[in-house]
Amino acid sequence: MSLEQQRYTHQYLLNNEWKDSESGDVVEIKSPDDNASVGSVPAMSQNEVDAAVESASDVQENWASKDGHVRSELLHRWAEELEKMTDEIGMSIHKEVGKTLSSAKSEVKRTAELIRHTAEEGLRTHGSFIQGDAFPGASRSTKAMVQKVPHGVVLAIAPFNYPVNLAASKIAPALITGNTVVFKPATQGAISGILMVEALVKAGLPKGVLNIVTGRGSVIGDFVVTHPKIDMITFTGGTGTGKNIAKKASMIPVVLELGGKDPAIVLEDADLDLSAKEIVGGAFSYSGQRCTAIKRVMATTAVADELTEKIKELVNNMKVGKSTEGADIIPMIDQKSADYVTSLVEDAVNKGATVVTSGEHQDNLLSPVVLDHVTEDMRVAWEEQFGPVLPIMRVENELEAIDLEKRNEYGLQASIFTKNLENAFTIADRLNVGTVQVNGKTSRGPDHFPFLGVKNSGQGVQGIGRSIDSMLRDKVLVLNL
Ligand code: G3H
Repeated sequence: MSLEQQRYTHQYLLNNEWKDSESGDVVEIKSPDDNASVGSVPAMSQNEVDAAVESASDVQENWASKDGHVRSELLHRWAEELEKMTDEIGMSIHKEVGKTLSSAKSEVKRTAELIRHTAEEGLRTHGSFIQGDAFPGASRSTKAMVQKVPHGVVLAIAPFNYPVNLAASKIAPALITGNTVVFKPATQGAISGILMVEALVKAGLPKGVLNIVTGRGSVIGDFVVTHPKIDMITFTGGTGTGKNIAKKASMIPVVLELGGKDPAIVLEDADLDLSAKEIVGGAFSYSGQRCTAIKRVMATTAVADELTEKIKELVNNMKVGKSTEGADIIPMIDQKSADYVTSLVEDAVNKGATVVTSGEHQDNLLSPVVLDHVTEDMRVAWEEQFGPVLPIMRVENELEAIDLEKRNEYGLQASIFTKNLENAFTIADRLNVGTVQVNGKTSRGPDHFPFLGVKNSGQGVQGIGRSIDSMLRDKVLVLNL
């Protein structure tokens, strides 16, 4: 059977054994392209999830006691095995989350690089040594050795839009630092996540160091998040779910990467060809289903008409179709998400937004919509669309743009397009976001840069080095000589 025809029936991993749920219950996964069944994963019970957490907890001390280079070597082998599976995993990403095959394979390659970099960076973690006499009344003979130790069992929850990359970006830093992992893939994306773990098993994963849990959020979601033997949670996904996790997971560290409403601020002196190209790439890749997609343009009135024309031309050249056709704009992950995005567009049009580009919508396949003259009373000015829609808001000057952005409930990234770097720095200083891009689209990579959101966009910091830091805590040993 060719990879294209393959239908996947996958099992979960416990102590390196692949298992079905005892109930035989499964969750079906449907292709965003045509709603056909791609395969299924076990719908685990709470008891089965409990066994996964207990096993990860049982072996954690032993895993943490291994030499750092042993853990690093495992990650290097994992990257190698993953690369060997690029075609197979690429195909499953393509089928279950509807990415084009080439971008699905790029995700696998990017992930192998991320794991390798983590394997290296993790070797360089170290603690510190503090003399007591710096504090009045304390003596030089009191000395603190500050060690870096793992939290214990890390619950890693990945989203559908990067089912492999955003899973490994949590799992690799957790493993290199001596944590064990309970991995919960997004349901849509679970098959690819499981295949990625198959590569880790081939690389020599010791028993129990990573276990997988799959199933219905309503049955196992809160159960695993509140499990007493989970010591840290790292999650990427929607803001609502992230806030719920933060509330429920009391007294343990939680790293969250959530939604965004990233603006592109285009000033009078911007290079408009560059701005239009970056904005369209930033807004529409993977049909806008990225937390870091550009989700609103704030164009200064002096350049708004010309910029809109350039954006229109680029968008009209994009191919709309199935991911199997290698289209630029592909079906959204499901009908519910498409309906939500459509409701935002309808609201804006009813309130007077100008439709710059539009086209046929068929089920969850939406043609790219560019809306001009979007105003503050429209929902799309504030709500995250997570789909192929780009609202353009016109502002008199940068002060108006800063004011608009300050009222944004999200704070992931922002782009500023200008030739005046001094001005860019001044504006960047005033924006309450995790990252400001100057003359480039909003985006997470390169993967070793710090990556964070403020306000409703998240808490904690990721990016290889910072993710490693987030998986460790201080442990202080005081010598009283
Ligand atoms: O969807 C959230 C991702 O972290 C965005 O990553 O900027 O590489 O597409 P990306």
